[in-house]
Amino acid sequence: MITTQGISSSLSPQRELPIGLFDSGVGGMTVLRAMREQLPNESFLYLGDTARMPYGTKGVETVRKYCLEAAAKLVERGIKLLVVACNTATAAALPQLQAACPGMDVVGVVEPGAEAACRATRSGYIAVIATSGTIRGRAYEEAILRRMPDARISAKACPLFVSMAEDGLLEGPLAEALAARYLDPIFRNPREQGLEVPDTLVLACTHFPLLRNAIARAAGEGVTIVDSASNTAREVRALLQKKHLARGSGPNVGMPLCPGSVRFLTTDDVPRFTRMGELFLGIPIAPCTVELVEL
Ligand code: DGL
Repeated sequence: MITTQGISSSLSPQRELPIGLFDSGVGGMTVLRAMREQLPNESFLYLGDTARMPYGTKGVETVRKYCLEAAAKLVERGIKLLVVACNTATAAALPQLQAACPGMDVVGVVEPGAEAACRATRSGYIAVIATSGTIRGRAYEEAILRRMPDARISAKACPLFVSMAEDGLLEGPLAEALAARYLDPIFRNPREQGLEVPDTLVLACTHFPLLRNAIARAAGEGVTIVDSASNTAREVRALLQKKHLARGSGPNVGMPLCPGSVRFLTTDDVPRFTRMGELFLGIPIAPCTVELVEL
């Protein structure tokens, strides 16, 4: 069990603590990016388990173990709320993480992504693309069907998108060809046969928003593309307000605000983490804000 007792009794009031996020690597920075936009007064502690990435190809028990270790590291450092900024991790381990962090809100990306999809669809036919682990666990399907029991869902694992995004191959013939290979069976082929296609496509992997243009072209006209990042940030903002934990929202007992500050922990290769992280976060990362840790 990860005990969070030290958090509320630590020197700084709980409200001043950072929001903790973890992902298998740098992909969760697409979630961090949305959180920085929507929660400009908050500070963040982001852990990327790059030494053991990818999670998406691993078995559920292995991913669960990694997640519990990542969460323990963040809790040990002091955080006020934990965001599981990885679809595979959320699908494999959200209830286990919630049970391991009593007294702390643990927010995953699957429910906010499913919510965004259900709000966007008009026809009730939704496509979900993700890593093999997320698709195998059916977490998105279950979350969508809970909200919309008559939804029709086409789910597909697109594991190579992860490597494409990491290699910075976001546009061009390779990205287009791979997107077509994965998505033609869901969109182009049925369309050519006069069949209905999904009107909403969920990017249920942290890496896929980087390939949004290539994916959108392969999906074709009239398909709304959604991801979890901004919905997750909205959910976190609402939770912090409800729990009176939002920075700058109440008497901050004299603590200076350091808005938007982010610190990073990585389990491997600081220079690569920094380089890749900038691609996903969209802003420079100062090397002095990145620390190598062991889980
Ligand atoms: N972050 C993972 C996800 O959102 C993708 C990368 C991985 O497989 O570790 O599913």
